[in-house]
Amino acid sequence: MDSIQVEKSPPLHGEVQISGSKNAALPIMAAALLCDEPVVLGNVPDLADIHGMERLLCSMGGVTHYDSAAKRLSIDPSRVRWIEAPYDLVRKMRASFFVLGPLVGRHRHARVSMPGGCAIGARPVNIHLKALESLGVRIEVEHGYVVADGSKLRGGPVNLDFPSVGATENALCAAVLAPGETVIENAAREPEVTDLADFLVAGGGKIEGQGTSTIHVQGVDRLSVKSYPIIPDRIEAGTYLAAAALAGGEVRVRGCRQKDLTAFLADLRQTGTELEVESQGSLDDIVVRRSGPIQPISEVVTLPFPGFPTDLQAQMMAVLCLAEGASIVRETIFENRFMHVSELNRMGADITINGNTAIVRGVKTLSGSPVMASDLRASAALVIAGLVARGTTDILRVYHLDRGYEHIETKLAGLGAKVKRVRTGA
Ligand code: UD1
Repeated sequence: MDSIQVEKSPPLHGEVQISGSKNAALPIMAAALLCDEPVVLGNVPDLADIHGMERLLCSMGGVTHYDSAAKRLSIDPSRVRWIEAPYDLVRKMRASFFVLGPLVGRHRHARVSMPGGCAIGARPVNIHLKALESLGVRIEVEHGYVVADGSKLRGGPVNLDFPSVGATENALCAAVLAPGETVIENAAREPEVTDLADFLVAGGGKIEGQGTSTIHVQGVDRLSVKSYPIIPDRIEAGTYLAAAALAGGEVRVRGCRQKDLTAFLADLRQTGTELEVESQGSLDDIVVRRSGPIQPISEVVTLPFPGFPTDLQAQMMAVLCLAEGASIVRETIFENRFMHVSELNRMGADITINGNTAIVRGVKTLSGSPVMASDLRASAALVIAGLVARGTTDILRVYHLDRGYEHIETKLAGLGAKVKRVRTGA
């Protein structure tokens, strides 16, 4: 299994280009099942999860082709007949559950394996299922599978108990081809949800209110999207911003969107990091600079968008490890998302956990050690901590990183970081 080896690095300098968003691309790939003609998606990152979703679509009879140089993915859903997402694929990638709404919308029937828990929490799907039931779908869970009968699918009021990203996405995809009007209340406002809605609108869907807590959908008969570009990955952008804030130096993070990162940028500024946003049309470059000491933050609280994203909590914590004082980090989205804490402490950090709150007391220095990644964003936090740790940090279980970061070692090395992939057992 590969590992990533990070040596203590000089301050970072240079430019890094942000890739397309994994979390926007995955539900949009699933939503291609709603179309009756081939769809071409642009700005699709070359990641293990994207290829996992390709495999799932192909297992149903879809045909996909990924051009890694052009970052273009074509999906032909016209021959999809087998409307099942098997356990073996769903267990490896939770996002496979995103095919439920599109299959119900287009084929009025679906059989999708229950995803089960994962390292960061139990992650149930009750909100997804309740949303579909509000649209007239009959749901049964048998032998570990969700069996959905959408023969009576119709628009209706959908009230989400929590603004779940995935549940909003599944509800949108079922509603867009459902006769009548759907109003989704307490909808997730994340940019990836908006991107999915915009994709559906590009195909003829009638949707209003995406990006707010109330989304109106007027069902249409068919959808057809010729081509659609995926938005940039705000979490990848935030990760490089955090890396430069921790390691110091000056980095231009190219091709992201400030509006997707407002809460994160506000907190990062509190650490004494300078951030300058330069608009380049619809996208922004953010220049990040830090030379003075890292200041602690009184409280970082993860919240649904537009609040501070849970997917950047671990990376922000890595920055705070070297702050001149104590910071509080409160995780309110997932119940078990502090798996990186014990690994950061093994590197010399001083973090204590009390329930969903971590107290991060800044230390003078970290020291490199072998560490084990538990999930995607935790792995990224360990990589950036490795940049400032004395000696060598070996990050094992690198497949987590490959699920979500395109060429992380090459991008960081391009900024002068001493990072390399070590291939073992080849
Ligand atoms: C998505 C993102 C993930 C991000 C998360 C929150 C993708 C592929 N993943 O995950 O990176 O961290 O949003 O921004 O887009 N919940 C329930 N019942 C449900 C659904 C969710 O209790 O039916 C709970 C979850 O366990 C969790 C919270 O709600 O505690 C938020 O989950 P949700 O917004 O659904 O996250 P995902 O869509 O799974």
